[in-house]
Amino acid sequence: MRIRKAVIPAAGLGTRFLPATKSQPKEMLPVVDKPAIQYVVEEAARAGITDILIVTGRGKRTIEDHFDRSFELEYYLERKGEREKLDEIRAISEMASIHYIRQGDPLGLGHAVLAAEAHVGEEPFAVLLGDDIIPDGSLLPRLLELFERDGRSVVAVEEVPAEETHLYGIVEPEFVEENLARIVDIVEKPSPGKAPSNLAAIGRYVFTPEIFDCLKQVGPGAGGEIQLTDGIRLLTRRQTVYAYVYDGVRFDIGQKLDYLRASVELALDHPEVGQDFAEFLRDLVLRRKII
Ligand code: G1P
Repeated sequence: MRIRKAVIPAAGLGTRFLPATKSQPKEMLPVVDKPAIQYVVEEAARAGITDILIVTGRGKRTIEDHFDRSFELEYYLERKGEREKLDEIRAISEMASIHYIRQGDPLGLGHAVLAAEAHVGEEPFAVLLGDDIIPDGSLLPRLLELFERDGRSVVAVEEVPAEETHLYGIVEPEFVEENLARIVDIVEKPSPGKAPSNLAAIGRYVFTPEIFDCLKQVGPGAGGEIQLTDGIRLLTRRQTVYAYVYDGVRFDIGQKLDYLRASVELALDHPEVGQDFAEFLRDLVLRRKII
């Protein structure tokens, strides 16, 4: 079965990025010249997703404005003959059919995904977390391909250093083929020394609709929140769930350092500023005696 729908939870308060996120959503922080969430929507659209539900909350209205038409801006650009910019702005609102739902109470990531139930219905669907930017767009297509092949839920994971396992959902894997493991167990933010492996969930998932029933059954977990990880754990008790090991580039832009890394790397790839920026970086490294 082909997956058409994706859910992007974007209701978090962004406390790790204060004060920048005091009055604007963290999903709208620009990385070079696009808000972070646009990278995620583009990734989904490129993978063939045609219907996206963004789960928002209070103070997130600029996300809706961003993916909507902007008649004044389009009129202005048209009159000025700025064709390229006009096409770029229009493309944003045409990438997919984008819908919104409010989470209401911020009760956790699992609760946010559960808010998508009525929209998703009885279909398999993808979940993309807005904090993770994966510039190489090959991961989501790979997850969708695996789902089409096996009909099983798949969680993307990545090897992380042992001292970072407490920041993630960590899987206990049983490998069935190269880079693909059955999830024996999954634990949200295990305390140091308690992680079952160093394979961390990295914000890209494909689920069968049974995940909703599982999320309804789990109570508050780590941090007193309804955790997606706990829903996945229950799902593994009912059906096979896979973990796919990704080894490409990923930025967790919810972390300041990774946000800076993402900005530098994506600026280097940018057609307009990339070359000049590379020169600036070379000079900077020499001037600051970084190496
Ligand atoms: C969330 C999930 C966690 C996952 C992580 C990936 O945590 O709860 O399981 O590993 O995203 O970025 P958060 O980053 O919201 O603390």
